Amino acid sequence: MKLIFLGPPGAGKGTLAARAVTMLKTPHISTGAIFRAAKAAGTPLGLKVQAIMDAGKLVDDSTTIELVKERLAQADVEQGYILDGFPRTIPQAEALAEFSTVDRVVNFDIPDSAVLERLGGRRVCQKCGHNFHAIFDAPKTEGVCDHCGGEVSIRDDDRPEAIQKRLEVYRAQTAPLIGFYRRKGLLLDVDARPAVEQVIENFKKALGQR
Ligand code: AP5
Repeated sequence: MKLIFLGPPGAGKGTLAARAVTMLKTPHISTGAIFRAAKAAGTPLGLKVQAIMDAGKLVDDSTTIELVKERLAQADVEQGYILDGFPRTIPQAEALAEFSTVDRVVNFDIPDSAVLERLGGRRVCQKCGHNFHAIFDAPKTEGVCDHCGGEVSIRDDDRPEAIQKRLEVYRAQTAPLIGFYRRKGLLLDVDARPAVEQVIENFKKALGQR
């Protein structure tokens, strides 16, 4: 199944995607994670996107579209994928329609207050990228990843000014995709407010898997 995860920053897209990979046996493609890896490795792409990401702005459409187009041309995603964080603008959605046919778009329905609480407490493993939360899902040893022993810290774009900017950008450029995909009959609304296990149940129900 070819799925898009759509929702505001901090809605829980990456957290659910990490679980859905096993459930649906399909690869997870996060444009944010690809950009963060490029940034950490200091590649030309990483150097190009570093300041944009840290300010909470969007990377330009042509760079992002090219990246996803190349990724979706690989054999492992022929049968399905979870696209997390792409598309994020109408031009990205229109470009995607030219090189892939999406089955469903999962809309993470969540108020700003919950988003702020989630982003404010998010902690991320710098080695394997696993998401933790200081209150809801803390690592067993503070600052150390339960899965790989890597360093767990705050993401560069989770500073308050960057969070505000990301929410503004979401409202202006990404939220219009909800109507775009609803009109195409592809949208599935998922209540993303409850705890992770319940969000997984809501997701399965929306997909008709229980
Ligand atoms: P990206 O990495 O895509 O960031 P985002 O969309 O802002 O989403 P987040 O990763 O912040 O949140 P999430 O919804 O995955 O939440 P998470 O599961 O972590 O993009 C980063 C940047 O890259 C962008 O700002 C932009 O610069 C660039 N970029 C990426 N894609 C682009 C594109 N297409 N075009 C242009 N630029 C692009 O959860 C958050 C926290 O909440 C965690 O701590 C987690 O443990 C906790 N949590 C999750 N679910 C629950 C729950 N149910 N209950 C309690 N806590 C929960």
